[in-house]
Amino acid sequence: MSETDERIISPDNINDGEEKLEQSIRPQRLTQYIGQTDIKNELGVYITAAKQREESLDHVLLYGPPGLGKTTLAMVIANELGVNIRTTSGPAIDKPGDLLSLLNELQPGDVLFIDEIHRLPKIVEEMLYSAMEDFFVDIIIGQGEGAHPVHFPLPPFTLIGATTQAGMLSAPLRDRFGIIEHMNYYNIADLEKIVQRTAKIFTIEIDDDGAKEVGLRSRGTPRVANRLLKRIRDFAQVANKDTVDLEIVRYALNLLKVDNLGLDDTDIKLLSTMIDYYNGGPVGLNTLAANIGEETETIAEMYEPYLLQIGMIKRTARGRMVTAKGYEHLGYSGDLAK
Ligand code: ADE
Repeated sequence: MSETDERIISPDNINDGEEKLEQSIRPQRLTQYIGQTDIKNELGVYITAAKQREESLDHVLLYGPPGLGKTTLAMVIANELGVNIRTTSGPAIDKPGDLLSLLNELQPGDVLFIDEIHRLPKIVEEMLYSAMEDFFVDIIIGQGEGAHPVHFPLPPFTLIGATTQAGMLSAPLRDRFGIIEHMNYYNIADLEKIVQRTAKIFTIEIDDDGAKEVGLRSRGTPRVANRLLKRIRDFAQVANKDTVDLEIVRYALNLLKVDNLGLDDTDIKLLSTMIDYYNGGPVGLNTLAANIGEETETIAEMYEPYLLQIGMIKRTARGRMVTAKGYEHLGYSGDLAK
């Protein structure tokens, strides 16, 4: 396990215990789902229309940074459609037979959710094309002389694919999704509401300032907000505080090394490496990752998107550069930025 897996702000890599946490706080309906308003409104129309026509919903691709609630949204969609959902992930489907057994269990209209769909093996991905387009798969049974193709008709179903990296999806796969939604980071007001909602489910008393501060420091990511709230609850309990307020939130998050913008040690290391060793950039992602001892993928999926979003770094054709805001956040003069 890499260090990243245990990090508090890491929106990725959830373990079994955390999966249970997520399940217990998952909204069931679109009306309970906070934020992502445009996506909710659009999906609401498509779901209603599909139900009126008694058809399966078109295939849906959800993409965006980790921890924003793509799995939750897939479950909400299935709920709103009144159908069952089977969930799996790209790396879990090794061979065509695995996909076939998943497809085989579907009832008409059901949802198949594939997380990390960009990591499907090519041979499985190719089998999905006819499944998505015409609801059948052809599979070769047997080996050598006895090998023969078998045609499997499938019930109409909805594939919901989720990915953090839409750019890594092949064009033929991407083109087979009728509905493509880009999920973006949540604003502070929505994160505050999510924190209040989770606190209520866990019977944690939290005041408005406390909830807002958690929202502010959770990198636009509900999974991070909920994870921080769990840790802060521990600090509040040990400090004998019945209500989580601004003071205990700040105390806990300072100890957890989550700064006032939600940045952790790795973000800071990344920015200071760019400044101290590369004069603020431009510098390539691979070089940076090697310098700070992280996987390039971790930086690309988790760290860079948020640093870009809040304007600490910018992307140029020659690499990443620290902005004036980035310099200032680290205590340098913003004038040093190129
Ligand atoms: N928990 C995590 N994400 C959520 C969301 N978008 N709405 C409500 N509760 C959530």
